[in-house]
Amino acid sequence: MADVLHVTSEVVPFSKTGGLADVSAALPEALSRRGHKVAVVTPLYRKVNAARHGIRPTALRFPVTLGGRTCDFAVHEAALPEGTAVYFLACDEWFGRDELYGTRDGDYPDNYLRFAFFAAAAFRLMRALRRRPDVIHSHDWQAGLVPMFNQLNHLELSGTVLTIHNLAYQGLFPAQVMPEVGLPWDCFRAYGGVEFWGRVSFLKAGMVHADAVTTVSPTYAREVCTRQGGVGMDGVLRALGDRFSGILNGADYGAWEPSTDALLPSQYSAADMAGKAICRDRLLADFGLPEPNGPLFGVVGRLTSQKGHDLLAGCLDDLVAAGGSLVVLGTGERAVEESFRAAAGRHPGRVSLRVAYDEPLAHIVEAGADFFLMPSRFEPCGLNQIYSMRYGTLPVVHATGGLEDTVRDVDEEPGRGTGLKFRAFDRASLAWAIRRARDLWDDKARYLEIQRRAMAEDFSWEASARAYEALYERVAR
Ligand code: ADP
Ligand code: GLC
Repeated sequence: MADVLHVTSEVVPFSKTGGLADVSAALPEALSRRGHKVAVVTPLYRKVNAARHGIRPTALRFPVTLGGRTCDFAVHEAALPEGTAVYFLACDEWFGRDELYGTRDGDYPDNYLRFAFFAAAAFRLMRALRRRPDVIHSHDWQAGLVPMFNQLNHLELSGTVLTIHNLAYQGLFPAQVMPEVGLPWDCFRAYGGVEFWGRVSFLKAGMVHADAVTTVSPTYAREVCTRQGGVGMDGVLRALGDRFSGILNGADYGAWEPSTDALLPSQYSAADMAGKAICRDRLLADFGLPEPNGPLFGVVGRLTSQKGHDLLAGCLDDLVAAGGSLVVLGTGERAVEESFRAAAGRHPGRVSLRVAYDEPLAHIVEAGADFFLMPSRFEPCGLNQIYSMRYGTLPVVHATGGLEDTVRDVDEEPGRGTGLKFRAFDRASLAWAIRRARDLWDDKARYLEIQRRAMAEDFSWEASARAYEALYERVAR
């Protein structure tokens, strides 16, 4: 049994901008179920609804000093649904804002201070709790300084793991911030240091100081070690050798399971699919679309170039020509939003866009659509394609990262397929996948057989939790 502390900048149900939040709750809970002593530490943002989630203040308060500046932190606590403890670090100066990382107009300019103080406060919290975890597991650049502070502190050393959920977010700041975040200049080195092309990278700081580094699928782990996929960090990752590996995320079927999903107008299962048709009607009504003659495609996600939504927006005429209709739920980059809006204008009654972050509606899209589109340019793991399989909504994906690892193509692997993949990232390939989806949908018996197979896929957290457990054994001190 290991004592493990997760340090993460978002956790469902308290705060979320993407899949990191899902993983930051589901993995600790899976580890707790396996008998480990697990806690999570995260910021108390202003938008976290303390009353709704039973978050209580504790008597713990402490000052944290970094680079000559001192800020007071208060500790609040709550528990995840299965009982894992969550500690919230409250500091109005850093977290009393409307958003987690920034607004549509850009990141908060002092994010380096916000998350350096967060990392330092996580250590201070352990001292206050008199707890020295066997392993501190940090997630993404926001917790990237944690493995480094662990070494600089070297009084009470824990083993450290850093998980990279997305290598594109590197926590890059001007070199001048070094003293402000309490980092000595001798750490500012290209090899084995925090320097990255003249700037400081919080993510690299974590990568070079952690005992083990992981990312969230085996294929993405291979891709980021290449020049094309490495976003400049491939050399750093290759140098880690066997300290770097890919562990596939799981899905939380407690929240994403059509037979128990209370957010659906009707539950259903592979044995009785009647409820899925009810969800489809609801979805069409919610998006103001008439009954289509062809398949209904759904999209949920951050509207960013990572997700390939620009490619999809350029392909909507093909989708409509193939008889399809499309609903899109997402928030993100204005340009991507505009191109979907323009397509919706060109194809009234066939394409509908909702710019919102709406959890209940996300469930209805997963359940009500016939196919779920994820044409991601790159995808570290991706959770929506895993959820959509469980809902019998066949994923249409670009064969990259975690999408490659979780979806089997119906034509490449006859008798085993669970979705459709395209390999070249271009309009013709996506349009071809969409046409294959339409043909599959027309063949109702085959479509139903594949739906049932996809629904039977099991990506529950147990296997991934076991893989992390083995890693913890290697690094624990
Ligand atoms: P990423 O973390 O890169 O955004 P993932 O597929 O791992 O992608 O996870 C995305 C998560 O965020 C899913 O749980 C998805 O349902 C949710 N999500 C993304 N955008 C929205 C939205 N506009 N409304 C509701 N949920 C959303
Ligand atoms: C990131 C990735 C996504 C992954 C999620 C959880 O946001 O973009 O692919 O599923 O983290 O690990």
